[in-house]
This record gives sequence, C-alpha cells and structure tokens, in this order.
Amino acid sequence: MSDVLTLAPVAPLRLPSRHLIDAGALDRPLVEALIESAAALAERPARAIGRLPGRILASLFFEPSTRTRLSFESAMLRLGGHVIGAQDAAVSSSAAKGESVEDMVRVVSGYTDVIVLRHPACGAAALAAGASDVPVINAGDGAGQHPTQALLDLYTIQAELGRISGLHVGLAGDLKHGRTARSLALLLALFPLIELTLISPPSLRMEADLLRQLRRRKVVVHETDDLRAAAPGLDVLYQTRLQRERLSGPQAPQAADLPIVDREVMDRLPPRALLMHPLPRVGEIDPAVDSDPRAAYFRQARHGLVVRMAVLLWLCGGLE
Ligand code: NCD
Repeated sequence: MSDVLTLAPVAPLRLPSRHLIDAGALDRPLVEALIESAAALAERPARAIGRLPGRILASLFFEPSTRTRLSFESAMLRLGGHVIGAQDAAVSSSAAKGESVEDMVRVVSGYTDVIVLRHPACGAAALAAGASDVPVINAGDGAGQHPTQALLDLYTIQAELGRISGLHVGLAGDLKHGRTARSLALLLALFPLIELTLISPPSLRMEADLLRQLRRRKVVVHETDDLRAAAPGLDVLYQTRLQRERLSGPQAPQAADLPIVDREVMDRLPPRALLMHPLPRVGEIDPAVDSDPRAAYFRQARHGLVVRMAVLLWLCGGLE
C-alpha cells in the first residue's frame, strides 16, 4: 500500500452554462415562463422556501446600484442560497490592480453557482460569460443591456394591464445611453402588434442598430421630442433619466433638455395608462404625480424581487 497522497484529476464539475446577457436572445415562451414563475412566487411567497439550498451567488458590481443588487441578493437569500460579493468592485477587488473582468470571473466562477455582474463597459457581461463556468447575469453593461430590468418591466405591464400584446408604449428620456429602454424594446418586440413611440431630444435618440432590429421584428416605431403631444395615445409611458455618467464634454446634453413628466403630462395620459420608470429618478418625474394611481414605478421596483427569483431558479435549475 502506498502512502503517497494522490490527487484525483480535476474533472469538469458542471455542464456548459446558460447565461442572461442580451434581452434580444430571449424567446417569448421563456419570457412568459419567467413571468408566470414570478407571478406564482408573488402569489405564494412560501413557494420560494428551500428551492436553491446552499447555492452561492456572487454579486460583482463595478457601478452603483440599489434595486438591482439588493433585489438579486434578497432573491437568492429567500430561495435558501447564500450571497458573496464585491460592491464597488472597481476599487475593492483585484480589478483595482488591473485584473481583467474575464480573469476575475474565471476565478469567481470556481467559488460560486451564479454570477451577477454590473460593469460600465458595453459588452463586459458577454466577455465574462465566455470566461465563466457558471451562469452570468448581465445586471447592466454600460449603455448596452439590462435584461432583468426589462423582464420586471414586462412583468409590471402584465400585472397592471393584464396584457402585453397590442400595446402602444412610449419610451422617453435618454434613449441613446439608457440600457433599460433598449432591453425593454427588445422584449416588447417579442409580442404581436406592439407600437413604440420613442420620445427624446435629437441628441439622445435610440441608436440605429436597435431601431433596425425593432423594425425587422415588425414593431411600428415613431420618433418625436414632444412628450405632451405623444401622451394621449399611450398605454404605457416609460420615462428614464439622463445617464450623466456616460456623458462628457461641454456639448453634453443637460437634464433640462429632457421632457419632464408633470401633472400636465398626466392629464394628457389616458385614464388607464401606466407611468413607469426603472429608477432612480433625478428630476424627470415630478414627485407631485406619485399619488396618481397610474404612477407604477415603486410597484415596478418591488416586482424586481420575484422576477429575479424566477431568473435565479431558471439559471440554477430550480424552475418548475
Ligand atoms: C437603471 C440602470 O442601472 O440602468 N437602474 C436600475 O437598475 N433600476 C436605470 C438608471 O440607472 O437610470
């Protein structure tokens, strides 16, 4: 008998992972399954108990976050898992020493079962996914995408209006740099008879690549800078803030250039329309409209919890 300690070869522990990077890669059956799973969790919170026992979520945030990070972390804890993470990852992790996001994720994926990544560079989440052995969830990559925000936005529309197909949605604000509007437009395009009105000053219009994708998917798209004129025709008005962190230089647009939702705009919105916003808002919705029953943004933020639970169940193998 040999007393030499032999180490077993390191076998691959997991099958290749699924990731959630780009809302444009989701199909309608999956989106509907996620919305249904989230609705079931909202109806009976006890369904969450013990669904992902012992699983570990890594939360890697290179940009500020309140709702996305805390709702993901709460979602994993409610499902019976654990959370480790690097907030302020740009300064608190080895990224501060110059480590690439791929190297970081390659290492962290050996410690965890799912990674939630927010990063200022468009495309960072896709690079991370290529380097990871576990699912990577894009929690915002620069001006690129924010697919879980779009899922919770759709969930909110379905919960409040009872349907998604056939709606006329106004996306307003900084559509050039805002990732939530891009991802939401792509998910809406999965449903029939969607009409989109894009409401922004000319310098903050949605990028042409996305407009082409939407038109290819048969979405009727209008562009305007006149929020007051657009409001009466909308079922949903989705307002967004100026993405100041992605702007620089003396020519940069100012918050004052964005149309503001105030009582006058609300008076023009149809009585059963919804006013949404991914939050944070920084002046582009007058707080005086918060008490209007159509103002759905705080309910919308709350829905993030069940939607992110559904996403974790899907990616970590617990979706029924
Ligand atoms: C959004 C984001 O980070 O893109 N916030 C969020 O996740 N709810 C919107 C924004 O910051 O403007």
